[in-house]
Amino acid sequence: MAQRTILVTGGAGFIGSNFVLEWLANEDAAVVNLDWLTYAGNLHNLKGVNGDTTRHRFVHADICDRKSVAELLQRYRPRAIVHFAAESHVDRSIHAPDDFVRTNVNGTFALLEEARAYWMEMNREEKEAFRFLHVSTDEVYGSLGPNDPPFEETTPYAPNSPYAASKAASDLLVRAYYHTYGLPTLTTNSSNNYGPYQFPEKLIPLVILHAMQGKPIPVYGDGQNVRDWLFVDDHCAAIRTVLARGKLGETYNIGGRNEKQNLQIVQLICKIMDELRPNDPVTPHAQLITFVTDRPGHDRRYAMNTSKIERELGWRPKETFETGIRKTIEWYLSRQSWIDEVTSGSYRQWMAKQYSM
Ligand code: NAD
Ligand code: TYD
Repeated sequence: MAQRTILVTGGAGFIGSNFVLEWLANEDAAVVNLDWLTYAGNLHNLKGVNGDTTRHRFVHADICDRKSVAELLQRYRPRAIVHFAAESHVDRSIHAPDDFVRTNVNGTFALLEEARAYWMEMNREEKEAFRFLHVSTDEVYGSLGPNDPPFEETTPYAPNSPYAASKAASDLLVRAYYHTYGLPTLTTNSSNNYGPYQFPEKLIPLVILHAMQGKPIPVYGDGQNVRDWLFVDDHCAAIRTVLARGKLGETYNIGGRNEKQNLQIVQLICKIMDELRPNDPVTPHAQLITFVTDRPGHDRRYAMNTSKIERELGWRPKETFETGIRKTIEWYLSRQSWIDEVTSGSYRQWMAKQYSM
């Protein structure tokens, strides 16, 4: 593989697979894709590039397995690591936090240690060119009140869920590796993503699937919690921008400039579904909306100030929510085989446990 190969971790998950597809469509460098294929990882997401072994090489491994990571770095000699691999679902972190600490904290630590050992042995030119880009979340900053200003890169960390705490811990390790060892790191903190290939445990794909199937659409609490929604392609473009031009040791907030209450999101999806699927079992789809017990410790509002990445690196989201959500719904409606694939087995057990459905 070419010298300029990059290593992507978690590239069979939602954002990682979109990133790999987007990268290969826009860049010359090949991708080595390391993923452990947990319930959230799916090789079908990469169907379009699986045959192209000169540009995309899949490696089934756990980021906590330092020996495998070390071997892989020596074998492919990537010039950058883009680190997506994580446990990513807040509700699962409430039921079973162990995997979150294992992968997000210990796994990121293992990856940093092996990246450091690999980087230390490079010549000066390779050392300067190397990058470790850590993909993180806005949830590390905690929760905002309705009139609070959006999170900035300097906002103190105040994570509230085991997921957010494990991501915060990993962000701080990355920070320390830059300050202590000079490892050339970059960190991105993004708001909620939506788009193709998102596992249907998360709000938007779950609502689309339940609307199609005539099942209750669960809205936690009063449905007034606010998230800032970003179309996944815009996130991928932001990561490529930070990788190319980000300043070492810095963190960059990424967001969609699109704050919406959960109930607004659910109602909009139901409205578009009424138009696209008038013959579904239950219409209007909004009849399916069901208020359920709130998530414990549910953060009220997230919002991102993205002026740093806009000003310094010239990135801005391109997709509006109205066009992005329509594209996303149309994608799910045309991918029944993908839905069947990911909603078998363990997915059913999760739904039964979380929603008693
Ligand atoms: P995801 O759950 O869809 O995918 C995670 C991927 O990591 C899966 O392919 C899984 O198999 C893999 N993985 C898990 N444990 C692993 C391990 N020990 N070793 C190797 N691979 C492992 O997650 P996502 O939504 O695509 O999120 C990707 C990253 O972006 C995460 O770090 C997450 O914290 C961050 N993020 C997500 C969002 C969002 O809205 N989804 C927003 C901001 C940041
Ligand atoms: P989610 O997609 O799990 O992302 P996050 O918790 O990381 O923000 O949830 C988005 C919002 O939707 C969050 O406020 C919780 C809410 N939600 C529901 O109301 N019902 C659901 O079934 C799910 C999964 C989430």
